[in-house]
Amino acid sequence: MAQINPSILSADFARLAEEAEAVRGSDWLHVDVMDNHFVPNLTLGVPVVESLARSTDIPLDCHLMIEDPDRWAPQFVEAGAGSVTFHVEAAAAPVRLAREIRAKGARASMALKPGTPIEPYEDLLPELDMLLIMTVEPGFGGQAFLDIMLPKIRRTRELIAKHDLELWLQVDGGVSASTIERCAEAGADVFVAGSAVYGAEDPAEAVRNLRELAAKATADAWWACEH
Ligand code: DX5
Ligand code: ZN
Repeated sequence: MAQINPSILSADFARLAEEAEAVRGSDWLHVDVMDNHFVPNLTLGVPVVESLARSTDIPLDCHLMIEDPDRWAPQFVEAGAGSVTFHVEAAAAPVRLAREIRAKGARASMALKPGTPIEPYEDLLPELDMLLIMTVEPGFGGQAFLDIMLPKIRRTRELIAKHDLELWLQVDGGVSASTIERCAEAGADVFVAGSAVYGAEDPAEAVRNLRELAAKATADAWWACEH
């Protein structure tokens, strides 16, 4: 089933609880944590996640675009995140970190920047609950979707099928009504959307529309048919 995770990066940071309410019916709320080191932008940290977790029933999907996730990721689980994604480019010990996130009770997820290949991490996949393939360079919302990432999505879906894994495949960056079908067809099943949701007149309606487009594209996809 296609899941849609609105990114609050495109929401009003002074009204986060209301912005969460505006996307009621979403599967997860995507929270972009940036430290101005791993990416050239600065957003929010543990205290905001803690408050947001108390203010909404929608589970939080925290995407850590930060240095030293080995130190920080467990604190986001304690703050109430249901899923924590670290970047493999920043992690000192990705397997240990994934195990720690899971042991603390959250879903463990690993992200790849556009220039990072999936192949070296094939053996790591069973340690994860989700893999995030960035479809823009991380750091900012509203960027154009990188079509050149579609083969990587496809190859990752093939690896998931080959090892028969229960691994969610998330895409993030430039996902909209005009790009989501391509992502779903290639093998993604979790879709982050910032500007496409919060830039819409009715964000909840935008979520429903995206989910429907993804579900239709998935129904005809090679990877979903085989299952
Ligand atoms: C970018 C963030 C994304 C961002 C996506 O680095 O990781 O989650 O909010 O925004 P859109 O959907 O507008 O590309
Ligand atoms: Zn993100």
